[in-house]
Formats: sequence, structure tokens, C-alpha cells
Amino acid sequence: MPAGEKRQGTLASMLRIYPYAKTAMPRLYLGMAAALVAAVVALVIPQVLRALVDGPLQDGDSSQIWWPVVAVLGLGSLEALMIWVRRAFVLQPATGIESRMRNALYTRLQDLPVSFHDRWASGQLLSRMLSDINLVRRWLQFGLILLVVNSLTIVVGLVFLLSISWVLGLVFLVCSIPLWIFSYLFENQYAAVARRSQDQAGDLATAVEESVHGIRVLKAFGRGSYALKGFATQAEQLRGTELAKARAIANIWFWLLLVPDVTFAISLLAGVWLAAAGQLSVGQLVAFFATATVLRWPVESIGFLLSMTFDARSATDRYFEIMEAPNTIVDPEHPKQITQPEGRLVFHDVHFRYADAAGDTADLLDGVTLAIEPGETMAVVGVTGSGKSSLTALTTRLYDVTGGSITLDGVDVRDLLRSDLRQRIAMAFEDATLFSASVRDNVLLGKPDSTDEELSEALDIAQADFVFQLPNGIDTLIGEEGLSLSGGQRQRLALARAVAARPQVLVLDDPLSALDVDTEALVEAALRRVLASTTALVVAHRPSTVMLADRVALLEHGKITAVGRHSELLATNEHYRFVISSLDDEDEELRA
Ligand SMILES: Nc1ncnc2c1ncn2[C@@H]1O[C@H](COP(=O)(O)OP(=O)(O)OP(=O)(O)O)[C@@H](O)[C@H]1O
Ligand SMILES: [Mg+2]
Repeated sequence: MPAGEKRQGTLASMLRIYPYAKTAMPRLYLGMAAALVAAVVALVIPQVLRALVDGPLQDGDSSQIWWPVVAVLGLGSLEALMIWVRRAFVLQPATGIESRMRNALYTRLQDLPVSFHDRWASGQLLSRMLSDINLVRRWLQFGLILLVVNSLTIVVGLVFLLSISWVLGLVFLVCSIPLWIFSYLFENQYAAVARRSQDQAGDLATAVEESVHGIRVLKAFGRGSYALKGFATQAEQLRGTELAKARAIANIWFWLLLVPDVTFAISLLAGVWLAAAGQLSVGQLVAFFATATVLRWPVESIGFLLSMTFDARSATDRYFEIMEAPNTIVDPEHPKQITQPEGRLVFHDVHFRYADAAGDTADLLDGVTLAIEPGETMAVVGVTGSGKSSLTALTTRLYDVTGGSITLDGVDVRDLLRSDLRQRIAMAFEDATLFSASVRDNVLLGKPDSTDEELSEALDIAQADFVFQLPNGIDTLIGEEGLSLSGGQRQRLALARAVAARPQVLVLDDPLSALDVDTEALVEAALRRVLASTTALVVAHRPSTVMLADRVALLEHGKITAVGRHSELLATNEHYRFVISSLDDEDEELRA
């Protein structure tokens, strides 16, 4: 997907989370402070040892041994307490940030135009919604805090080391330089694989989604094993990337373990030599190595904390690719109101092309001019692929026109609030999409506050009385995407949904295609009552649907080439006769 954007630093990238984290910051800071106190306490313990070795032990004064013991006990308990406090502080804010980010992404996905969803695979959205945000949460809760605290611990520890013996401290510092170099190289190597692995996980999710979605087709064509092969290849690719990731981590681990060991050995050599020369007390030597031991864990942890950070960084990038995707279909800055709602829908020289259409082709809609008067029913016919569905999608701004304009009661649809526009114009699509919810919720999607009478009226018009025979009537839960219903049943519910919204303009994209002829006739008779008072734009694939209309518009080569009564056009227009006869043929086949 769109990965070609400029690369920014990890810090700048992660800072974009701040708005979601703002309210949680105090607790995160407190958690960090607790972790820091724990780290400093751990570093103080060697100083007690030093005092013990150079004091009571050196002097052989066993009566003075109790206080270092009590101090170590106290400090150790304090360290444990602080680690507990850190966890307690950090858990809640991190989950809060996670849910805020997830809600924001969901809202954004709802807001982004259909053209965005055309381009983006569902699995990519799904993986960003679930696993990427989860990675960010784990990082906030654990990675970020430990990365900051452990880095600070290393710095404070180095100061302690230098204060114990600046020569030894310097030896230690110089010997650890390779670590910083390896860590830097690691970022370059790891960040790219981390990103690739998350993208591939998204592709894999798409493959699963698609094959589950199309399970009927795959089964019917016996192509299950074919789908499996494609899936296995993708899964294998992801595995390869995960292995590359693991190799990178193994590499950095190797250095993170080896370098401190070598440093330790060199420092030991230098320390013993300094002690022999009388420049270092035994207590200092003990304190130095006890401190160096305390620093081991922070140093070793840097490897996986860095990998966690880069994972979270590419997860954040992927998250913001959606959050920052340009939304081209937004509410106007100064929305207009329709003062006298009548329902006059007019296309003024409308041009439209899909964003991914080849540059040299003509516009799909190449100057459509059409006026639908209040209360009128206009049918649109045209050969398949002529752009009828695209034309209907423009009315509610599922896409925006690329030229010309569409007005509702004289106001450009782009000057209305989208919610206002979509309340005034209701659509029913050819492929009726239902949600896993009750029949009632599905039908009243556009107007949830409708009364039961309005609901049954809509169901009646759409001839969807079958719902009363369902186990729980209109409260029956429909399975995912309504797949538990037949195609015709789904279509009738989608039609009822559009009718129940009581819009001024009803846009029906071939709403009756899956109905048998008798049911269609009943729906048409009922629709005629609704359509008498409502403006309607109806895409027709059957002559009987055309009969519903007051006038018919013929869409040909991106233009409306004829408008008139069915009988007039039939008598005068050859292309119209051709289109209608092809529709007729399909009907004949259906009836046969
Ligand atoms: N989301 C999309 N992105 C890109 N191109 C599209 C998209 N939807 C449709 N098209 C293209 O636009 C053209 C017109 O499609 P449209 O669905 O509007 O035709 P139609 O007249 O409704 O056809 P049918 O009678 O088969 O329903 C087709 O060539 C199709 O390939
Ligand atoms: Mg269509």
C-alpha cells in the first residue's frame, strides 16, 4: 500500500500518538518516575557494599555490620515496591490510549470516501485496527517506559562508575562504543523488515477475509485447494520476513551479550592492576563491579526494547496512513440549507471518472444533463457498464463529480452537510447489504426513530412480509451480511430500508432484479403509491421497471442521449430499442 511517503525520524513518528495520550501522560510520567527510582535504588546498593568493604570489613569491626545489612534490605524492598508501582500506574492509561486510537480509526474509516475503500484491502484495515494498535499499546505500557528508564539508568550508572574510578569508568565507556554502533545499524536493518512483516500480515488478513467471504463460490467451483495454495504462499512469505526479523534480533542480542562480557573482562584486568598499584581500594573495586552488574540488564534489554520500538513505529506509521489519508468528500465550510424542500434533482453537465481510470480514456460520465422534477419518477437505462450505478452514486456524494454539478432544490449537493443530504436522498443498491443485527435495525437504519406503523408500512411496500414468519419476527437477528436470507429477501429488506427513510428523493439502483415476476409486480404496485409523492431515480434492468417511470433517460457513451416516455422512445430511438430488447431477452430467459 502507499508506503512511498517521506521517512521521518522514529521520535517524530511516535509523537503523533501524543494527542491520544495527553490525558494519560501524568500516569505514564509517574510510572516512569517509579521505574527510575527503582533503577537508582538498585545503583545505590553497590555504594553500601563499598562502604561495607572499606569500613567494617576492613577494620574487622563486626559490631558495625548491621547497618549495611539493614540498608540493603530496605533498598531492595524499595526497589521491588517501585517496580510494582510502575506496573500499577501504567496499565490503565495504556489501554485507554489503545481504545481511543481504535475509536478514532473506526470513526475515520466511516468518514473516508468510498474511493478510499475501493483502493484499500479490508485485511490491511483490519490488521491496522487490531494488531497494529495493540503493538502500540504494548510499547507504551512497557517498551517506552523501559527504554527511557533503562537509558537513563545507563547514564546514571556511568556517572556512578566514573565517580568510583574515572579510569575504570572510561575503560568501560570506550569498550561499550561498539554497542552504540551495532544498535544504530540495527535500526536501519530492522525497521524495514518490521514494516514489511506488518504489511504482509495485512495482506494475509485480506486473503482470509476474501476466501471466507467467497466461501460459497470457492466450494461450488471446488477451488478450495487453489485458495489454500495462494494463502500458503503468502503465509510462507510472512514467515520468511518473520525469520529475517528474528535473525536481526538474534544478531543484536549476540553483540549485546558479548560486548558487556568483553568490557567486563577488560575492566576487571584494569581494576585489579589499579588495585595492586594502590590506586583503588578493594571496596571501590567491589562497588565498581556490582554497579556494572546492575547495568547489565538495562544494556541487554536495549536490543529488544529497540526492536519493540521499531515495531511500534511502523505500526504507528501504518495507523496514520489511514488517519492522514486525504478525505476528498467532506462537509462544506459554510453549509447551505434547502429552504423549500420539493425534491428537484438536476444534473448539470456532470462529468465523472474513477480516480484509477486510464488517463487517455474519455470520462465515464461525459456531460450528463438531466432534470428530475419534484414527484417525478425517472428511469435510467443503458447497456451494462454504461455508468448507471456510478451516476446514482454521485447523488449522495459516495463519489464527487469531477466536472459540472448536481443540485437538489437548487443547492449544489456539495454545499449541503453530508448528513443533511443523505437524509434527503435514500438509496437502495443492487447488491443489498445487510448487517448482523435485527430486521428492525436493518430496515430502520436511515431513520431509527420510526414508529412500528411506519416500519410495517415500509415492509409492506417492499413486499417483505416474510419477516413476520421469521422465528422472532422483526426482532430476528439476521446473520452476517444477511446471508441467512435469500437474495430476493435481502433485496426487499434493502428496498424497505430506503422507503422507511422517507426521503424526498429515492434512488434505486435496480432494486427488483432478484425478485420473481409476480412479487415484482406487487412491489411495483406498492412502489407506485410511494413514488407518486416522492421524486425517484430508478436504474432499470427490466422493461417492467421502466413501466413504473414517468419518463425514461437513455445513458449512452457517458451522455443522456434521449429523455421521454417509454412509448415515445420506443418509437423514435434505435439505441433505446436495442437496450430494451436486450433487457427483454433477459426477461424472456427468466420467464422460460
Ligand atoms: N469503484 C470503481 N472503481 C473504478 N472503476 C469502476 C468502479 N465501479 C465501476 N467502475 C467502472 O465504471 C464503469 C461503469 O460501471 P457502473 O457500475 O456504473 O455501470 P452500470 O451501468 O451500473 O452497469 P450494470 O448495468 O452492469 O450495473 C465500468 O466500466 C466499471 O468497470
Ligand atoms: Mg449497475
